[in-house]
Amino acid sequence: MNTPVITFRNVTKNYTLYHGLTGGFKNFLFRLPKAIKQIRDSKYCVLKEISFEVNSGETVGIIGRNGAGKSTLLGLMAGVLSPSSGTVEVKGKVAPLLELGGGFHPDLTGIDNIILNGVLLGLSRKEVAHKISAIIKFADLGGYITQPIRTYSSGMLARLGFSVAAHLEPEIILLDEVLAVGDADFQKKCMNKILEFKQSGVTIVFISHSMDSVREICDRAIWIEDHRVKMTGDAVTVTKAYQSCN
Ligand SMILES: Nc1ncnc2c1ncn2[C@@H]1O[C@H](COP(=O)(O)OP(=O)(O)OP(=O)(O)O)[C@@H](O)[C@H]1O
Ligand SMILES: [Mg+2]
Repeated sequence: MNTPVITFRNVTKNYTLYHGLTGGFKNFLFRLPKAIKQIRDSKYCVLKEISFEVNSGETVGIIGRNGAGKSTLLGLMAGVLSPSSGTVEVKGKVAPLLELGGGFHPDLTGIDNIILNGVLLGLSRKEVAHKISAIIKFADLGGYITQPIRTYSSGMLARLGFSVAAHLEPEIILLDEVLAVGDADFQKKCMNKILEFKQSGVTIVFISHSMDSVREICDRAIWIEDHRVKMTGDAVTVTKAYQSCN
């Protein structure tokens, strides 16, 4: 049976664009009503009245050019962003792996960040303690696990992030370009883990610029362009259509 676990209804997301005080603060104050109106009007619409559903156990790829709004879409699913209008409904335990290093504290060690993230993402301290050795083993960072993560490379951050997310026993996993920065070994390990999740019926939303990975992992794909869903359907058809336009 198809049970929707992620539902977007007419979702619009605007960002306010940054305005420097080009004429200085005094000038800003003198023309205050106009300046406020200018700030109100300078919104950038990333997503415009988007509606779609993701069913339980489905694996869905989100594709589109740089800046299309893919990470914004995932942020809305994870609840770290809220829509400007419309509604987002997500049912189930979510493990988000958003942009690189998001949710990590740079001055804490790898181990402390595992504990912090595990607890923030819904585990008890006892559960984290129970899983920590498996997480450390999967991340395979050697002695760096006891170093502050500001000393990590981007691949090392991705290892830590994926390892935490993968051990949360999620019902829904949100993955933003996890395979992009890992080395070949880790990419393979991630891919196996993702396919294991797929086998066991976890709902997966997977953002990637690698159409091969989207085809390997996903049943369905959603192509975002010009603030809207340009095309949705089986992953092979949608990725091929996207590739023929780019
Ligand atoms: N906090 C913000 N304030 C203003 N604009 C933002 C903000 N975050 C994102 N944007 C803009 O929203 C648009 C979509 O960004 P988003 O990160 O969702 O794109 P993306 O599809 O994930 O791109 P990429 O493939 O490069 O990761 C971009 O034009 C970006 O500049
Ligand atoms: Mg992105």
